[in-house]
Amino acid sequence: MNYQMVRAGSAALLLGALVLAVTTPAHGQDAATLFKAKCAACHSADGSGSGSMGKQLGVTDLRADAVQKQTDAQLNDSITNGKGKKMPAYKGKLTDDQIKGLVGYIRELAKK
Ligand code: HEC
Repeated sequence: MNYQMVRAGSAALLLGALVLAVTTPAHGQDAATLFKAKCAACHSADGSGSGSMGKQLGVTDLRADAVQKQTDAQLNDSITNGKGKKMPAYKGKLTDDQIKGLVGYIRELAKK
């Protein structure tokens, strides 16, 4: 293998790594996208639940102490199995990892 081939090979590797870095969303971004797609209709994009649907359903502000003081396991359970009559269960619709990501995202919402 001559020097030029090695250089071409490493350039291709570098390009591959760049493409991966650009197309693979960061974990937090992923949860944010998911939240907007699946949860914001009722909970609003900021988690406040202040939209018309949220008001109608009487959702709790996800940033409030009542929610934030719960453990990750409790929030996980609300998302997995639903809560009350109107919070849908996402068991089987989202993976455990996605639900975990959403719990993290709910924590982030409170810090904004
Ligand atoms: C159809 C409307 C709707 C959608 C969609 C929805 N929720 Fe909810 N959610 C509710 C309602 C209503 C409650 C309040 C339930 C209660 O306490 O009676 C709730 C409660 C919760 C709670 C518990 C809050 C508390 O007070 O303990 C969490 C956590 C939660 N939702 C997260 C999510 C996440 C994450 C998603 C998206 C994957 C989502 N919700 C999608 C309506 C919705």
